[in-house]
Amino acid sequence: MTKTAGVIGWPVSHSLSPRLHGYWLDKYRIDGEYKAWPVKPEELGSFITSMVEKGFAGGNVTVPHKEAAMRLVNEMDAEAKAIGAVNTLVISKGIIQGSNTDAYGFTENIRPFIKGTNKAVVLGAGGAARAVVHALKKLGFARIVVTNRTPEKAEALAKLFSVETAPWEYRMAALEGADILVNTTSLGMTGKENLEIDLSLLPKTALVTDIVYAPLITPLLVAARARGNPTVDGLGMLLHQAVPGFEAWFGVKPEVTDELRRYLLT
Ligand code: ATR
Repeated sequence: MTKTAGVIGWPVSHSLSPRLHGYWLDKYRIDGEYKAWPVKPEELGSFITSMVEKGFAGGNVTVPHKEAAMRLVNEMDAEAKAIGAVNTLVISKGIIQGSNTDAYGFTENIRPFIKGTNKAVVLGAGGAARAVVHALKKLGFARIVVTNRTPEKAEALAKLFSVETAPWEYRMAALEGADILVNTTSLGMTGKENLEIDLSLLPKTALVTDIVYAPLITPLLVAARARGNPTVDGLGMLLHQAVPGFEAWFGVKPEVTDELRRYLLT
């Protein structure tokens, strides 16, 4: 029987996930399909119920449903509980398991490039920042400094994960001695404002990574490369976070390859 999964969002037309999973379904010759499901917030509960009734394998949950989905699943993994959001649903024998694979995706994307784990600086304090801070803690970073335009949000996130904050106005100073700098804000994304940050105090060995992947090489990554810092773009996080879901729905652990990256960029 053809297995069905998909991405639930509102809107969802911009999502790369259908092409990504479609590529893997073809590559591994799997009898499956992965759809884009535009679902309004008020219809999320009934939609997820209908997925169970139709015998779907599960799906991904994206903006703006990741937090609401927590209340609609039967079980949640530790990552989803810690991050406070569900991005993957796996349905088996009528039970809906909710998990969060964003921290896993972030970690797998940067893992080969991590040198020091003393200090990390995180720009932003939204949903993506929660996943990133959770991942950095699991990676063993001794100091994690969160800086955000709205200080209350930085404080709330810092309290949740027992990490530090720095004022947004002084974000440049926070870079001193950092081993990694992560942008989790939407700044630098196509159509959004640029991220204003002077990297002078950042050690040249520090890894710089952005969760924005459109453009692939954000102005932050351009500036980091120009001064010799190693960089990792944000596309890999999206690809890696998709792996556990695909494996659970379709029974094959898919590979993240350069060919896949090239396919998605064309
Ligand atoms: P996500 O779930 O993708 O993290 P989000 O929760 O909307 O999305 O968070 C967006 C992040 O980008 C926030 O940290 C936001 O800062 P605020 O908390 O102050 O809103 C940050 N951001 C968005 N536009 C910004 C801007 N013009 N300047 C500074 N930070 C900005």
